[in-house]
Amino acid sequence: MVKAVVLGAAGGIGQPLSLLLKCNPLITELGLYDIVNTPGVAADLSHIATPAKVEGLLPPDDGLKKVLTGAQVVVIPAGVPRKPGVNDLFKINAGIVEGLATGIATTAPKAFVLVISNPVNSTVPIVAEVFKKHNVFDPKRLFGVTTLDVVRASTFVAEILGDLSKASDVVVPVVGGHSGVTIVPLLSQSSHSLPSGFSDEKLDALVNRIQFGGDEVVKAKDGAGSATLSMAYAGAEFAVKVIQALNGKKGIIAPSFVSLTIDGGEALKKEIGADLEFFSAPVELGPEGVVKINSLGKLTDKEKKLVAAAIPDLTNNIQTGIAFTKKSN
Ligand code: NAI
Repeated sequence: MVKAVVLGAAGGIGQPLSLLLKCNPLITELGLYDIVNTPGVAADLSHIATPAKVEGLLPPDDGLKKVLTGAQVVVIPAGVPRKPGVNDLFKINAGIVEGLATGIATTAPKAFVLVISNPVNSTVPIVAEVFKKHNVFDPKRLFGVTTLDVVRASTFVAEILGDLSKASDVVVPVVGGHSGVTIVPLLSQSSHSLPSGFSDEKLDALVNRIQFGGDEVVKAKDGAGSATLSMAYAGAEFAVKVIQALNGKKGIIAPSFVSLTIDGGEALKKEIGADLEFFSAPVELGPEGVVKINSLGKLTDKEKKLVAAAIPDLTNNIQTGIAFTKKSN
């Protein structure tokens, strides 16, 4: 019996994400909230023959409070996406995420919160600050969703191996953060080795493609938004892992952008040589959220350089998020 809620459920990501969650039999209640169109999306999804009871709510009449009541897992894809030439999502999305986090902190403070709204490197610290303000912050329950980077890495490696049927079996840890150079794929740890003789140039190009994969989609959509369908797939995949762990399944490990105050965080800070408050690393999931942050493992010299290159942006992005909440108080 799990109640999952999607905030921003009528959007480009929100609708297919809600569809995928409705199709998952582990979810028995699905709450959809947006500032527009959720009654329609909910009516449509409610005709699908799967267990979840769906309700769609809007801001009037305390819609946010109602949808969040009893929620165990809250996924947030609310906000504006990137468009060519528009890179500063921060101001708009920061305010949206802060408002929604306040709703969760007051109505469902124990829920697992999965943040998709970009820039994740800053929106996750915003949620943390809002929760701290309400004295309900449990770092183990807050996740920045970086799964799309992981999904892209699997797909691109399978493409290089010439066998897309392997794509879902390929596991590549992707760590750091969730934008540009903060995205660090650890290809040396790929479950499926790259072809022998794969040159340094090709490796650099693959790293770059994973880091900037979102640009391919923004460009191809030509003004109509950013990744929505692949993000919905990735968001559902991560949400289901969290729900499986909540239901007692053991041994689930997935990268996520989390607070380094959790078990394993201090060791990770030493490993990366930086006193960051958040970082994306493989985390072990359990019924109470993150059980432990795992080590990054053995890195190549190239990967060590990529981690070092991610630190300045990560430091800035995290501070920008924290500063936003202080200013808006
Ligand atoms: P979209 O514009 O299609 O949908 C966003 C939805 O949020 C809209 O339905 C809108 O009405 C809703 N919304 C706005 N303010 C709201 C509020 N206060 N409360 C509830 N809902 C609200 O955008 P799209 O493409 O679905 O992207 C959503 C977010 O996800 C963007 O910030 C985008 O940058 C981010 N994103 C994150 C990725 C990741 O890997 N974490 C990948 C791709 C996009």
